[in-house]
Amino acid sequence: MENFQFSMPTKIIFGKNTQKKIGPETRKHTDKVLLHYGGGSIKKTGLYDEAVKSLKEHGIEITELSGVKPNPRLGLVKEGIEICRENGIDFILGIGGGSVLDSAKAIAVGVPYQGDVWDFYTEKAVVKEALPVGGVLTIPAAGSEASDGSVITNEQNNYKRAVVTGLIRPVFAIMNPEFTYSLPPYQTSCGASDIIAHVIERYFTRVKDVDLTDRLCESVIKTMVKYVPVVLEEPEDYEARAEIMWAGTVAHNGLLSTGRTGDWGSHMIEHEISAIYDIAHGAGLSIVVPAWMKYVYRSDIERFAQFASRVWNAETDFFNLEATALEGIEKLEQFYRRINLPTRLSDAKIGDEDFEAMAEKCLEFKKVGEYLELKKDDVINILNLAK
Ligand code: NZQ
Ligand code: ZN
Repeated sequence: MENFQFSMPTKIIFGKNTQKKIGPETRKHTDKVLLHYGGGSIKKTGLYDEAVKSLKEHGIEITELSGVKPNPRLGLVKEGIEICRENGIDFILGIGGGSVLDSAKAIAVGVPYQGDVWDFYTEKAVVKEALPVGGVLTIPAAGSEASDGSVITNEQNNYKRAVVTGLIRPVFAIMNPEFTYSLPPYQTSCGASDIIAHVIERYFTRVKDVDLTDRLCESVIKTMVKYVPVVLEEPEDYEARAEIMWAGTVAHNGLLSTGRTGDWGSHMIEHEISAIYDIAHGAGLSIVVPAWMKYVYRSDIERFAQFASRVWNAETDFFNLEATALEGIEKLEQFYRRINLPTRLSDAKIGDEDFEAMAEKCLEFKKVGEYLELKKDDVINILNLAK
């Protein structure tokens, strides 16, 4: 196990009726808030009305900025920064999914910074301060409610990039699984795919003797495999929604990274796909992750066989570990298909015309992959395996 530091200061407020805490929790930080949300699902579910009521009851002045799109755009972030500066707003409350929370975090780092907020995403500048952000989560997926990341798409040049800093972990995350009942099946499945991918990125490591976190990772994936089909069948199953929602946070709040180094190559490749084709991140991952696995498994067949046997209950064939390893990859693909996700680029109507450009962009800023470092040809080969 590697040395590590782990600090996860986000206060998680989980369960039924927790939306009533929106006002009281926000009031601990400010009396003036930017209320940031997406395309309107929170109005349909009634969460918007409850949030506004709770904020007003606590004397909080609200300025709104809605319209965050999946794969959130830089343009809206800049608008949010201006609004905060003009109105002296010092707290961003995001209500929605990863896109809303990432946009809120981007505004939070942009307000105190004199330069272009995109500098942080291209590693031209390092975040030194950020306004506090609060989150009310409506889709278990990206894990942004307690993560140190924010992913933004620059719509001018189709670059999708992340900034990672402990300064942007939300100060609180309010999570009521009931507000995920309204998720369309496709969004539920895309979210599940992202959660599983966050665990897989961490699971495939070269670090030895990480048995505790291996087993925590396996548990999170098994929980997803058990409960996602349940909510697709019965969207208002509270206990199943709750299991998935908590799994989404545990998958990406840093706990499963303790003492080990993850890979993140699949995420970097996927970001190139969703940057250009604007598909849901989780749908991109159900295409890229199996292709990545097929490309790298030979470099550590034992770990892939462990994944197959412990997560997918494959019988270990000690005379042919490769067959066991491949069975695990096949079972993962079958699961994606069972929950109606694409597993090939062609399923998402994506051809191979952009592979070279995607691979070049992917490698532009930093190295891709830790478990196996990927060069340009490797990225192209993985995309070809995903065709
Ligand atoms: O905009 P609204 O109307 O709210 O609709 C959203 C959106 O269309 C809808 N939705 C959300 N909650 C709903 C709902 N519809 C009905 N009922 C509800 N309760 O779902 C759609 C997708 O929302 P989005 O926020 O885009 O989903 P997700 O949470 O998957 O976020 C995806 C973004 O997060 C980034 C991804 O790259 C992508 O841009 N990521 C962020 C990470 C982080 N900050 O740590 C890590 C991840 O790996 C990921 O890269
Ligand atoms: Zn992700």
